[in-house]
Amino acid sequence: MLLREIKNIFHKELDVLFPKEEVDAFFYRCVEHYLKLERFVLAVQPELTLSKEEEQPLFEALSQLKQERPLQYILGEAHFMDLELKVNENVLIPRPETEELVQWILDDLDAERSRSVISSPLNDLLSSTQNPSPFTILDIGTGSGCIAIALAKHLPQAKVFALDVSEAALEVARENAQKNKVEITFLHQDILELELGLELEFDIIVSNPPYVRELEKEKIKNNVKEFEPDTALFVPNEDPLVFYRAIAGFSKVNLKKNGGLYLEINQYLGAETKALLKAHNFSEIELRKDLFGNDRMLKATVPLRPAYRR
Ligand SMILES: C[S@@+](CC[C@H](N)C(=O)[O-])C[C@H]1O[C@@H](n2cnc3c(N)ncnc32)[C@H](O)[C@@H]1O
Repeated sequence: MLLREIKNIFHKELDVLFPKEEVDAFFYRCVEHYLKLERFVLAVQPELTLSKEEEQPLFEALSQLKQERPLQYILGEAHFMDLELKVNENVLIPRPETEELVQWILDDLDAERSRSVISSPLNDLLSSTQNPSPFTILDIGTGSGCIAIALAKHLPQAKVFALDVSEAALEVARENAQKNKVEITFLHQDILELELGLELEFDIIVSNPPYVRELEKEKIKNNVKEFEPDTALFVPNEDPLVFYRAIAGFSKVNLKKNGGLYLEINQYLGAETKALLKAHNFSEIELRKDLFGNDRMLKATVPLRPAYRR
């Protein structure tokens, strides 16, 4: 069959479910993935004909797309910043908003580096691989490992830790760390059970925890609701900030002096989440919008209260 005929079939079957541009994107992504052909192939070879074996994976993907299974799960891979990551139904598909959170951290570290011309702990870290007190980062609720791996890749001297309650998610994250050639210490832990903290201290704690209220389920697209893991997404209506409270408590114990806490948040709960950090005595709290103009990220500094420190 001609490749352009298959493209027409994608549109015929999927245009009722998705915008036309998205169907185009699905089609060309499948062409790239299964046929290893560039997306402009049809422009240069409009009469390109596929064999039965070549057609088969495209039609299999089409039938799963009709069930609204996310393309990333069908292909088993997703992109996050400059990384290629394995994904399956045990992990959330990394989102562009989360890339912005990682970029915020990298920009802050860059700014700090250029500010501190003279020696600072960060400069020492970044200039020496033998530092006795390495710069440490913890990613809470790591899922596919996207945040931790992106930070490890960009900050090769940092010691990166990542935790998740789901062993199945950690399995994917470990594979992704290996695939992207970074070393990460993975911890199988429940953040809701870590009030006493860990025997470790961090310069940066980052998290994109579950934050979607059950009441927001209706607004969510089927492909997210039905295929992405509930444990990664949902929180009870009556206590939507449960994870932020636990992370704030944990961070008071486990963040180093002047350490930074970076959080992705529910866009409808920006003020409430900020107030929660304030109530926990965090300082320099900054709320930021994502590329879609929604309140999406918070940054704060650990309170410098001796009582909180070990
Ligand atoms: C919104 S997902 C974020 C995944 C990934 N960090 C990302 O940004 O794509 C939240 C993650 O938190 C994990 N999680 C849920 N409850 C948890 C808990 N009690 N303790 C630790 N991790 C938890 C889920 O398994 C999931 O991987």
